Amino acid sequence: MSLPLQPSADAQFGARHIAKGVGRLTNHVLKRGQGSWIFTDQNVKLLDFTTGIGVVGLGHCHPKVTAAAQEQLGNLVHAQINIGHSEAYIALLRALLPKLALAHPSLDSVFLWNSGAEAVEAAIKLARGCTGKQNVVVMQGSYHGRTLQTAGMTKSKTVYSATFHPVPPGIYTTAFPYYAQHGLPPSTPESTLVSASLHQLNLVLSQQTSPRDTAAIILEPVLGEGGYVPAPASFLQGLRKICDQHDILLICDEVQSGSGRTGKWWSCQYANVRPDILIFAKGIANGLPLSGIASRKELTDKQAPGSMGGTYAGNAVACAAAQAVIKTFDEERVLDNVAERSAELFEFLHNLRKTEAGSLIEDVRGLGLMVGVQFVLPSTLRQQQAAERGAGKKGQAPVLNDASQNTAASAAAAAHAASKDGEEDAKHSPWEVGIAPRMQVAPKVVAECLKRDMLLLSTSVFDVVRFIPPLNISRQELQEGCDRFQQALEAVWKELKST
Ligand SMILES: Cc1ncc(COP(=O)(O)O)c(C=O)c1O
Repeated sequence: MSLPLQPSADAQFGARHIAKGVGRLTNHVLKRGQGSWIFTDQNVKLLDFTTGIGVVGLGHCHPKVTAAAQEQLGNLVHAQINIGHSEAYIALLRALLPKLALAHPSLDSVFLWNSGAEAVEAAIKLARGCTGKQNVVVMQGSYHGRTLQTAGMTKSKTVYSATFHPVPPGIYTTAFPYYAQHGLPPSTPESTLVSASLHQLNLVLSQQTSPRDTAAIILEPVLGEGGYVPAPASFLQGLRKICDQHDILLICDEVQSGSGRTGKWWSCQYANVRPDILIFAKGIANGLPLSGIASRKELTDKQAPGSMGGTYAGNAVACAAAQAVIKTFDEERVLDNVAERSAELFEFLHNLRKTEAGSLIEDVRGLGLMVGVQFVLPSTLRQQQAAERGAGKKGQAPVLNDASQNTAASAAAAAHAASKDGEEDAKHSPWEVGIAPRMQVAPKVVAECLKRDMLLLSTSVFDVVRFIPPLNISRQELQEGCDRFQQALEAVWKELKST
């Protein structure tokens, strides 16, 4: 374990001169990356299970991607899409279209931009323009970015919009089939969560935004910043049906869940559901800024030339890198590696749950190498916290949190919590999420991982950590990460037991 370090002079300089609005997991100054590892200016070697929040899927500085970007740098850096086609852009399209066809063959028209948020904005512009309708429905717990439009569409945490209001109008929120969001226990059957969520959507469309005014429903097929929760196939299929009934577009935001992260090119493939618009970014260019949307030509043909664009949109170097990423996925059979490592990771986590420290784990979920672990505090601490909030008595009506207000499912949760005496209920408190600061296991685990030179991120307002290792991580490296995670969890368990 490396000793706690004083921030280096550069880190101190950064802390003084970088805007405070930028949050940061560590004080390290990151100097060099190679595969699954990052090296700091103080020669600390960190095992990276964050991949720059799901960006460097092929690991840091993959030699084929670096070589492609370097070559492009010597040929043409910036052509600008309003001036002409760049050769790299066209070459990328040729490589990308067959991958997009895996989501649905109708996705044959592409617009490239730089960041995920910009691509989300492009999708909303397209949806509004081609339906002639204005409103969009987003999921509770969603994350779509930090520009004003996408901050307004982001419902995972208030920090993304607090003090910036008003966000743009025309954004309505519906429930996602995630037990914690509904205030229900993890054992809640998937079918209950799906029907409660679709019921909420029907209410949104009949009470808040008429289908006549609703251009699109947008979701992350695997909720990312909202808790790393895959949407059940039946939910996506239900959304598709409702969209078809009401002439609403279905937009899949695959910024985090796409580009092979879940073991398929696009996570919507698991549900076999056709998106009208698919959004990609992050992993597509392994660290070069590139994003885009794909839709069908019949829709994109409705746009006026000049209505879409941006100075750096589809930058040639980023396109060359993305083309190399796609080639490398095929050449190095990366998706096979995702399947193998994913099975190992899930086996490890399920075994860990059976240990003493593993009693802190409430839920393990995910697809491929997009895996979430949700924690629960030991019962003594839960009772202590509940007592502090004056809600400790079993059967007492819970004060529902902001994440679960106003849903029929929340009422069901309250009834469930008040009526059943099972172990599950004793462990689970739907009113534990709230706006007041509260103790969580996840930040402690993240801090203990950091002490063991492992980068791991938490996510959502719930007590969750997320595993996003490189998609080409080796068996040994994954094992190393699992060992460090187990040690971290055991340290947290020891600390909490003695509290
Ligand atoms: C699902 C999703 N959509 C959009 C975004 C925004 O992407 P960017 O940060 O590149 O603007 C993110 C970023 O984490 C994301 O996870």
